Amino acid sequence: MTPVVLAVVGARPNFVKAAPVVEALEDTEGISVRLLHTGQHYDRALSGDFIERLGMRDPDANLGVGSGTHAEQTAGVMRGVEADLLEHPADLALVAGDVNSTMAAALAATKLGVAVAHIESGLRSRDWEMPEEVNRVVTDRVADLLLCTSEDAVENLAAEGITGDGVQLVGNTMIDSLFRILDGTDRDAVLASQGVERRGFVLITLHRPALVDDPESLGAVIEVLAGLAADLPVLFPAHPRTTARLADAGIGIPAGLRIVDPMDYAEFIALEAEARLVITDSGGLQEETSVLGVPCLTYRTTTERPITVELGTNELVGVDPAALREAAERALATEPPAQAPEIPLWDGKAGARAAVAIESFLSR
Ligand code: UD1
Repeated sequence: MTPVVLAVVGARPNFVKAAPVVEALEDTEGISVRLLHTGQHYDRALSGDFIERLGMRDPDANLGVGSGTHAEQTAGVMRGVEADLLEHPADLALVAGDVNSTMAAALAATKLGVAVAHIESGLRSRDWEMPEEVNRVVTDRVADLLLCTSEDAVENLAAEGITGDGVQLVGNTMIDSLFRILDGTDRDAVLASQGVERRGFVLITLHRPALVDDPESLGAVIEVLAGLAADLPVLFPAHPRTTARLADAGIGIPAGLRIVDPMDYAEFIALEAEARLVITDSGGLQEETSVLGVPCLTYRTTTERPITVELGTNELVGVDPAALREAAERALATEPPAQAPEIPLWDGKAGARAAVAIESFLSR
């Protein structure tokens, strides 16, 4: 019987990490892939457009779970994945990253005795207040095949007693997607459409609940960004959560700060590659900017991606508006690196290595 992999995706970062692995698995003879979308993200800009842009095929089913509390969302995905697995038995559930859909799918699968493979396993911020950290630890605890992006992730797993053949260092599949998209995008056209110049603007993404759900913290950051916007364009494609919180808190948008809708993946990556500076609280952007050689300031106190600070272009500034202002001014006064740093196994071929690891796991 042909082994079946149930690949579960649900939120924007999942698509980017899973697409290269799903594609490589679909090209592998003797493996059949069922693609299930949980519906955690449902806006076209966060979901359908991404899937299309990545060249991923349409999912076989969508659970339509949508938004809700953590328990509601987790429960919805668990129920849906369980029902799907009962109707369409699989030999392995493939999950990616650290969103609620990831953990919920892993739990549902493991309770049915279905093996779990986790893309981007072993990252740890050690900040238990981040929902993503809970998702990472729980997912890795139940996973049978742990696909790691970097050596530090392998070490984190070992420190938790997770070792052996199930842990495989395959590299960063998100970077596969990044290279592929950059290749096919006319960066000059994107810069022109936004009215910005190469290395002449700052790009922002901020959406973590810990920041945007607190009106005072959010207001203070907006003030810092407005200060930067006095010198060069500041472009802020905002997650729906951020837009809603700005409106709820009645925070006015200062002139010069350009808050826009979430962008198409290709458009966003093109801007990220050409920005003078990126300010973010996202995990993925710390990695992408590192590979692109673009200076990045991470507005958080912890990072689960220390390699981006050690080898890449990322700086952890903490959650302090004055420190952010100072770091941004310093970064803007310093020449950006002439060359992008090289990070081992972040080479555009991680999806293929992950597929080989999965194939070999299934043939054990
Ligand atoms: C989720 C992930 C986060 C990831 C982010 C990337 C968890 C715990 N968090 O956060 O790690 O960085 O995705 O984008 O899984 N909303 C929409 N349209 C959508 C989806 C969400 O408007 O298509 C709004 C809703 O108001 C919703 C809120 O965003 O309540 C939060 O969505 P949710 O999926 O719960 O988490 P994210 O903040 O997107």
